[in-house]
Amino acid sequence: MKHLLSINDMTIDEINRVFEWSEKLKRYVKEGIEHHLLKGKTLGMIFTKSSTRTRVSFETGMYQLGGYPLFLSANDIQVSRGESFYDTAKVLSRYIDGIMIRTFKQSDVEQLAKYGTIPVINGLTDLLHPCQILADLFTVKEYKGDLKSLKLAYVGDGNNIANSLLHGCSKIGMALSIATPKGYECDPAVINNALQNAKESGAVIELINDPVKAVENADVIYTDTWVSMGQEQEKETRIKAFKDYQVNKELWAHAAKDAMFLHCLPAYRGYEVTEDIIDGPMSKIFDQAENRLHVQKAIMVMLMKDNK
Ligand code: CP
Ligand code: NVA
Repeated sequence: MKHLLSINDMTIDEINRVFEWSEKLKRYVKEGIEHHLLKGKTLGMIFTKSSTRTRVSFETGMYQLGGYPLFLSANDIQVSRGESFYDTAKVLSRYIDGIMIRTFKQSDVEQLAKYGTIPVINGLTDLLHPCQILADLFTVKEYKGDLKSLKLAYVGDGNNIANSLLHGCSKIGMALSIATPKGYECDPAVINNALQNAKESGAVIELINDPVKAVENADVIYTDTWVSMGQEQEKETRIKAFKDYQVNKELWAHAAKDAMFLHCLPAYRGYEVTEDIIDGPMSKIFDQAENRLHVQKAIMVMLMKDNK
């Protein structure tokens, strides 16, 4: 594994290794075991969009690993004044040991990886959010064990979260049902990848418009904001389009008895999810957020440690 640009680039062995490292590094934190697996390494973190979790978990994670996290706000680096990702990748490769980038275009992340000589980690694009979904699946595994025997239902926008869920579940062989309104479906190329992966893994992938059918007997119910970063002008139209896709008590009644609720956060209570669900006992959103730290530390160790 050279980069983490998309879960679709990963083998099932690599996904399992991320989970094994995550479990180990999480245990080290809980037991206070000192280690500095990335001593002397620097991670550059480029953000052209806002972040709470991604920034803090990568920054803290790198510190805990003995390395140095260098925050590079897009406003302050020359990319914002038109410097190419080609030159940026070449130059940063001379100084630092890895790049984490959150930005709009997946192709910009791919360019950094193509032209640089250091590992690149995708910290969210309009298309994908692979670190999030690896942390989410790790969280489900902690609570429910064997992922292959479970069904996850995603209700809402066919956005970066839904796209990376398609990659993750189809690679692992976990049943995934996605319900979106018409016109807000997942990316066609990602759907294609997932259907191909499913042939090998045995995953049952369902892409529908009916939230009740999606949630039927699901072990995990997942939703995300109806208005992602960069879509602020579409807010009113989106709220109307998604009004029947709220995760609430009525929808929950169709899920499996001990189902769990996930949301990548930030959440908007009263829109995509009601308070009784997101703040109820079925909600594991803060474990999910915590696991970003452990899983991303695992990813950094796998990509950046010498003699992995
Ligand atoms: N879930 C997530 O990526 O959160 P941030 O936007 O706060 O980083
Ligand atoms: N779909 C959301 C995820 C935020 C972590 C967005 O892109 O804004």
